[in-house]
Amino acid sequence: MEQQVLCGRYRLSERIGAGACAAVFSAYDLKLGREVAVKIFSADSADVRRQEQEIRALSKVQHPFLISLFDCGIYETALDAPRAYMVMELIHGQDLRVLLAESSVIGGLRPAKVARFGWALAEALAAVHSAGVIHRDVKPANILIGRSELPVLCDFGVARLHDSAQATSPGQTIGTASYLSPEQALGEAVHPSADIYSLGLVLLECLTGQKAFPGTALEASLARLLRDPVIPESLEGSWQPLLTAMTERNPLNRPDAAECGQVLFELQLQVPAHPLSVQFYMF
Ligand SMILES: Nc1ncnc2c1ncn2[C@@H]1O[C@H](COP(=O)(O)OP(=O)(O)O)[C@@H](O)[C@H]1O
Ligand SMILES: [Mg+2]
Repeated sequence: MEQQVLCGRYRLSERIGAGACAAVFSAYDLKLGREVAVKIFSADSADVRRQEQEIRALSKVQHPFLISLFDCGIYETALDAPRAYMVMELIHGQDLRVLLAESSVIGGLRPAKVARFGWALAEALAAVHSAGVIHRDVKPANILIGRSELPVLCDFGVARLHDSAQATSPGQTIGTASYLSPEQALGEAVHPSADIYSLGLVLLECLTGQKAFPGTALEASLARLLRDPVIPESLEGSWQPLLTAMTERNPLNRPDAAECGQVLFELQLQVPAHPLSVQFYMF
């Protein structure tokens, strides 16, 4: 795909990401003269037209902490089966998976930073959910940290695009085992509360530097059905009750995204006093 011009408009350059069903490239939009990211879905997808329609629907969900979608279409060549593609803003930075790998050696990120990330992500999820979309795959690799040091949620609603069957069909498991909700692990019907559980696990990992449910996909999936994640008692303020509620095994007992956003907003303001910062303000 490299160096190709997609649909006469997007000059593809480096491949910046790849998953089971798509590849993401940095690219240059020749029409508007700007850098973009282009995600091209794999050719084995049953219905590219439906995929394209769903991308169109997702492009209507807009929020500062959600990736902005600019364009979509179907890419056809004589040599290959048609593929759906989407064009989005290019984030210069790294994804949270990389940031967490770096921070695990120091036992996680600062709580105030985690609260800021969590607040932004909860607000983004509130926008997604109120548009009737469920993300289904909230995990560090789908959270991009740009130059602003604020997170942008990507790959949203995309689980719907990855499969030609209806996303709500029972029995389907979509998502990454480490962050899946218990109901997703069981292949049950999924509601917005599944995203809240996953966000809870992501925030917990940000705070501790450790995955709440490590091990193989099977071990991780089984563990969350049998026990709640361990939330360290050393976590101050409302972290304990918030993470406990977000990771409730019964989806009905979890707070919604807006409620999480409110608590996380307050948590980011509760910066613990630090001797150096006191000195700084005194002089
Ligand atoms: N708009 C973007 N800007 C920069 N990097 C991106 C962008 N979108 C995706 N990526 C990178 O590509 C990876 C895969 O993208 P994603 O949309 O999650 O695809 P997949 O469906 O294959 O998981 C992400 O983890 C991220 O590192
Ligand atoms: Mg992804």
